[in-house]
Amino acid sequence: MKKIILSLSVLLFSHSIFAQTVEVSSPDGKIVLSVNDEGKPSYKISFSGESIIKPSRLGLAFKNTMPFSDGFTLSSSKEKSAKSVWQLPWGERKNVTDHHNELFVTFSTSDKSDAKKFNVRFRLFNDGVGFRYEVPKQKNLDQVEIINEFTEFAINDEKKATAWWIPARGWNRYEYIYNTTDVASVDRAHTPFTFKLDSGTHISIHEAALVDYAAMTINQKRPGVLKADLTPWSDGILVKTKTDFKSPWRTIQISKDAVGLLNSDLILNLNEPNKLGDVSWVEPAKYIGIWWGMHINANTWGSGDKHGATTSETMRYIDFAAEHGFAGVLVEGWNVGWDGDWFFNGDVFNFSKSYEDFDIEAVSAYGKKKGVRLIGHHETSGNVTNYRNQMSDAYALYEKHGVRQVKTGYVADGGDIKRIDENGIIRKEWHDSQFMVSEYLHSVTEAAKHKISINTHEPIKDTGLRRTYPNWISREGARGQEFNAWGTPPNPPEHTTILPFTRMLAGPMDFTPGIFDMSFNGLGDKSNRPQTTLAKQLALYVVLYSPIQMAADLPKNYQANLAAFQFIKDVPTNWHESKAIAGEVGEYVAFARQERDGDDWFVGALTDEKARTLTLKLDFLDKSKRYQAQIYRDGKNAEWINNPYEMIIENKQVTANDELVLPLATSGGAAIRFKAL
Ligand code: NOJ
Ligand code: CA
Repeated sequence: MKKIILSLSVLLFSHSIFAQTVEVSSPDGKIVLSVNDEGKPSYKISFSGESIIKPSRLGLAFKNTMPFSDGFTLSSSKEKSAKSVWQLPWGERKNVTDHHNELFVTFSTSDKSDAKKFNVRFRLFNDGVGFRYEVPKQKNLDQVEIINEFTEFAINDEKKATAWWIPARGWNRYEYIYNTTDVASVDRAHTPFTFKLDSGTHISIHEAALVDYAAMTINQKRPGVLKADLTPWSDGILVKTKTDFKSPWRTIQISKDAVGLLNSDLILNLNEPNKLGDVSWVEPAKYIGIWWGMHINANTWGSGDKHGATTSETMRYIDFAAEHGFAGVLVEGWNVGWDGDWFFNGDVFNFSKSYEDFDIEAVSAYGKKKGVRLIGHHETSGNVTNYRNQMSDAYALYEKHGVRQVKTGYVADGGDIKRIDENGIIRKEWHDSQFMVSEYLHSVTEAAKHKISINTHEPIKDTGLRRTYPNWISREGARGQEFNAWGTPPNPPEHTTILPFTRMLAGPMDFTPGIFDMSFNGLGDKSNRPQTTLAKQLALYVVLYSPIQMAADLPKNYQANLAAFQFIKDVPTNWHESKAIAGEVGEYVAFARQERDGDDWFVGALTDEKARTLTLKLDFLDKSKRYQAQIYRDGKNAEWINNPYEMIIENKQVTANDELVLPLATSGGAAIRFKAL
């Protein structure tokens, strides 16, 4: 792909510091950051004059060395600016602008007998701030063990600020229902951690480029002071590394309103460019799969009468995929290991041996004839040593059969990832520990050697590494559709109005939308079903971005409603441009996206348990074109509990000057294709 550098300006100057404070602002001047060394290294941030982060500590503590904190003074600083436009091989948009001002500061001790120093690199964008620690090689600091990171995010009026958050260090990893509380009531939370100040300013704390380091969670140690809390190894050490090293970027996205957060590229801009070279083999696409049947107990992963992954069933899915234009069929439960207690015994899985009623040779040959690829599946149940031992053979087998995507799974309670250490001892680790951060990335780089993309379930959170490794195509890392089959309780109506402003700020999610039959447990049972209308299921394809999207329901349920299914067939998964056009966290959200290499636009809008009418300006459309709007929206009497299926499908001619009035039912939605005429 051609890389266009629109403009690049670099300004570089260096000066010694006499004052104790240095300041830098964002390109538009609205965000101002200052760094100070009075007592301890610290920083603070303001936005349009409002204090966003009050003076907050910086620094690290290592085992067997003095803390890099008190007594360190600001000894030098450098500034530079850069503006460039780079391209995503696939994504929400093709061209991404990186425009930032950088401040690079060094803190050091004056003690000549044991001089120590560390650097902090700050980057200010118009949509927020990133900073990371860079610790150079120095005397008596080679192999290091980090035992504390002092980074703080101190905010004003924590009792008046509202946060949307999930707990960290819990058994269910990232799969929790979001809490909406004042910031004062937050204890330990995962990132992206999104909150709104009393003024209406929206902020999200996260990290970018998490490589060979522990994930950062935040912990409110003192009221209003959110402190970095890194997930430890099983021996209590946070990070084991070697100088010189860099931490991931600590990120603070800032916007005057909720929608602004959704249009930020800050996380991607702070990641390294593509390291894989030609990635034309990474294929954004839609898929179906032998999957939902297991979640609603119609099929089993293991062998027996209800075994889902049989040769004949897979061929039937391939036929359906070919007929309706789906590129892939995911097959779960094809390899031996699922009989018995797989959940607690990941070592039972063999990633090359299929069940007797599944002929991988025959189904992949059949798929090839029909132009449909198998999508692979490796459930590890968190036994990563067993997986690592078989990984390269398992990917080679899939490559041989034309598989381009593998979904991996790490079902194990938080803190229970099993590994066998160098001494043969079983250790239990967290999904977001440094050990697992490296393990997940290892599977991605190993898969790349076989031209395979990875869709990780029970993953480490996304920190934008898809820029560097574009074959890390999607992941879970939040409550997905599966919770509507068996979750207690299932995802509440507001869930998908919070995800875009929290989990999705990190990157794509394999949510698996598109459940058409809400009454799989019988009409009487309201406890496990998607708590949405049918139109909202369609809206999810546009709202929750992923380059791979599943049509998650059983083929027979699509066959029964081909008119609504048409939207899923039409909606792309790769975009030229994306714009969030309306939204408030936990209430409603609307996105407009233009297809890659085409003129059509798509809109998805959805609401929480409240019915509401959205009036959307269509000024994102090309001014010189006319469009046929193909609208799928809630019917007049639709509401999610008793009347989820009533939907209106209508066509209208529109232009960029028009407005569209969309009545959304309780937990309803709308999905629109604007077909250029
Ligand atoms: C959990 C995953 O999220 C789900 O999609 C998968 O079917 C099961 N694990 C089994 O691997
Ligand atoms: Ca899961």
